[in-house]
Amino acid sequence: MKVVTAIAELKSIIKNSKNEGETIGLVPTMGYLHEGHLTLASTAKRENDLVVMSIFVNPTQFGPNEDFESYPRDLDRDCKLANSVGVDVIFAPSVEEMYPTDGGISIRAGRQSEILCGASRPGHFDGVLQVVSKLFNIVEPTTAYFGQKDAQQVAIIQTLVRDFNFPLEIRTVPIVREEDGLAKSSRNVYLSKQHRQEAPAIYEALQIAKEHFLATREVKEAVALATNHIEKKTSGRIDYLQFLSYPDLSDIKEDTEQFLLATAVYIGTTRLIDNIIFALK
Ligand code: PAJ
Repeated sequence: MKVVTAIAELKSIIKNSKNEGETIGLVPTMGYLHEGHLTLASTAKRENDLVVMSIFVNPTQFGPNEDFESYPRDLDRDCKLANSVGVDVIFAPSVEEMYPTDGGISIRAGRQSEILCGASRPGHFDGVLQVVSKLFNIVEPTTAYFGQKDAQQVAIIQTLVRDFNFPLEIRTVPIVREEDGLAKSSRNVYLSKQHRQEAPAIYEALQIAKEHFLATREVKEAVALATNHIEKKTSGRIDYLQFLSYPDLSDIKEDTEQFLLATAVYIGTTRLIDNIIFALK
């Protein structure tokens, strides 16, 4: 496995690989890898000749009062883990390498970014689209892999690919969970022992709401049940808990086929997100 920090070096590896007619899988991450990331990488490895994983804590997607500085980082550990699942190239650029000048050109995410996580993180998805566009142009992947864990993110990236005609495919990989149901996240390390014990209630609440909705089609009741569960079982504060149509992220209607039930909950100061995507039975 190669670890590359310079865009020019990565481009030359990509050029050689393309000349050989290889397929390229890209797995964008911010590092501090866990099984969720590794599942994206092993899926990419099964489906491609060359797998590039980017590890870059992208400053443009963090708000001024968010955790950019304190976001967990451990490149040595990440390299060992990535190597163990067959990643061929780690791309770990510096902020200066990715954003050399104050260029002033940005991408603005559309309607899908104004709700859910976008409502409490203004500009977040603009930053995600900026870095993802750069990675698509640098790596020229055949397929790029994203987790359903960030369902809104992958829906917005699908729109980017469509609207800007990026010549690649997006693959969404299901959420990888801890044994007690908590969605794996690099931010889970922030949780105290007490908060870690409370956190599985988030996924429990989503399941309760989904089952109630499927049985009754009563959105308000389903949301109330889930809200109660989180309030009873945790000391957390709900940021949002919402049913939407997926992947367009509009309000659900009579003819909605695929549903997203998504939530963000602050447990202590840690913001945890989770979701379920489902169709009517
Ligand atoms: P990061 O939070 O590191 O996540 C990288 C990828 O791993 C994302 O596609 C995310 O959805 C996926 N992922 C995280 N936890 C997962 C889990 N439990 N199961 C399945 N997949 C999971 O998302 C980002 O980084 C950034 O916004 C990025 C796309 C890299 C742009 O900077």
